[in-house]
Amino acid sequence: MTTKRICILVSGGGTNLQRIIDAVLSGEIPEAEIIKVIADRPCFATTRAENHGIEVAQLKRGKNFQQQLLDAIPPDTDFMVLAGFLSILNEEICTRFKGRIINIHPALLPKFGGAGMWGAHVHKAVIEAGETYSGATVHYVTPGIDEGEIILQEAVAISEGETPDSLAKKIHEIEYRIFPKAIKKALAQLQEK
Ligand code: GRF
Repeated sequence: MTTKRICILVSGGGTNLQRIIDAVLSGEIPEAEIIKVIADRPCFATTRAENHGIEVAQLKRGKNFQQQLLDAIPPDTDFMVLAGFLSILNEEICTRFKGRIINIHPALLPKFGGAGMWGAHVHKAVIEAGETYSGATVHYVTPGIDEGEIILQEAVAISEGETPDSLAKKIHEIEYRIFPKAIKKALAQLQEK
């Protein structure tokens, strides 16, 4: 398999980004090379990228954001990974990279996805709904928020007295397990096209 050049989009602490960097460096994902990390705001994830000598672009939200993003994506990018990226990609980007963008969502899609369902809002909604399970989902990105085909998901039971914080911690552990596997799976599908 030829190595795929991937860009990772981030907005936060970047623990999933770190997991992916580590997986690429350790040979767990030998089919990927991280060529750039793009952030839509100042965040610690960019420091993690810089610590590994990965090129970083930090964009400004608001006017022209989608154009800034398009300009920041290197033309030879094969694949994009949204790892805690909070901005919505417009239709042009989704179409240009159809089947080549994936996202991780901290719930069991198709439940608890869509506009406003991010971070602690998701965990709060899951607990308030009285769900007995939540989890994480890696899926393809399409113009409909959190609606693309599911690549991998894993569930975890919700405990008595669970809080959004404690649930977020459990789900992060799942994310670190399934994200590298999902990237490998999506890259293999890309190769078959
Ligand atoms: C993860 O829970 C992910 O599912 C969500 O944002 C969080 C990012 O965490 N989309 P981190 O920045 O990777 O630590």
